[in-house]
Amino acid sequence: MTTQFKRSAGGLIISNNKVLILFSKKRNQYLFPKGTIENNETPRQTALREVLEESGYHTKILKSLGSIHYSFEENGNKIRKTVYHYLLKLVDDQEIPKPNLQQNEDFRNLWLNYREAYDKLSHLQNKEILANVLGYLSPYKKINVSREINLVSLYPKDASKLFQLTDRNREYLGRWLPWVDSVSKTADSREFILKSIIDRSMGEIYPFGISYKNRLVGHISIMNLDKKNESPDIGYWIDQDYSSRGIMSQSVKVLTEFAHDTLKINTITIHAEPDNIGSNMVAKKNGYTLIGQTTKDNRQLNRWQKTN
Ligand SMILES: CC(C)(COP(=O)(O)OP(=O)(O)OC[C@H]1O[C@@H](n2cnc3c(N)ncnc32)[C@H](O)[C@@H]1OP(=O)(O)O)[C@@H](O)C(=O)NCCC(=O)NCCS
Repeated sequence: MTTQFKRSAGGLIISNNKVLILFSKKRNQYLFPKGTIENNETPRQTALREVLEESGYHTKILKSLGSIHYSFEENGNKIRKTVYHYLLKLVDDQEIPKPNLQQNEDFRNLWLNYREAYDKLSHLQNKEILANVLGYLSPYKKINVSREINLVSLYPKDASKLFQLTDRNREYLGRWLPWVDSVSKTADSREFILKSIIDRSMGEIYPFGISYKNRLVGHISIMNLDKKNESPDIGYWIDQDYSSRGIMSQSVKVLTEFAHDTLKINTITIHAEPDNIGSNMVAKKNGYTLIGQTTKDNRQLNRWQKTN
């Protein structure tokens, strides 16, 4: 079997909070527009040309998104493919696209919201490109808590660090957090990060890793921002080795201020089980008031609320 190297380039267009995805009828796949780099072309030129041919839109390059690599077999040959991706912008928002498809091509343009696009894309590598772009575009990527503590956005590349942290603390966290059992490999943490980025891009959550002296030690997020009949809540966990040092109390303080001051949220809740002493102390220390108990997932939960 001979090995052939092939290079393609294409792009991801975002406009009005929607992403352009092509549906290829021939392959029954959802893809970003892309195509083969011709002899005399740079990857950037190919991306613009292919996007124009396949989708009919004139675009400009905003940013290089790097390249992905994969292999497959075709007619008894091994093909090693490199695809360069770019973040693109429409030249004219009002343009009526006129694709110039080759005879064997059959693409349909779909403008999808971020979650629909993520769910539809046929390849994990493309889902990761979308998530990385949404992470890059999102505001508030980092919130400073103290000289040593920062709340930081997590990206797919952080999956292995997050998994190791979860795995090391399996017993410690599992007592209070039911999702721990469902995380058994790095791919599970990657999926969690990808899903978090999509949830954030839809305005439903604000998730952060907790970084202490540039080391990932925990996770905190504001959740349920989209629920009409419930106040948003803050959930958190930290590496046992870094607990009881005040890291979580300080992180909750700053994230609560961020929710009030920046996101303009008036009421925030923390759910903690009555015998989770640490979590109840974190809530109390940050001025949350105990408003009652509720039964959720067969657990008795204290509900702490902070209002302004
Ligand atoms: C709950 C949790 C986030 C607390 O984090 P932390 O970093 O220990 O919190 P802090 O260091 O800010 O602690 C706040 C106070 O609680 C105390 N504390 C923390 N854990 C405690 C425990 N198990 N027993 C008694 N006191 C505890 C701390 O000593 C500190 O007291 P101080 O202010 O008088 O010094 C952490 O223990 C954890 O991740 N637990 C497992 C997951 C979890 O329960 N998440 C919350 C679900 S609601």
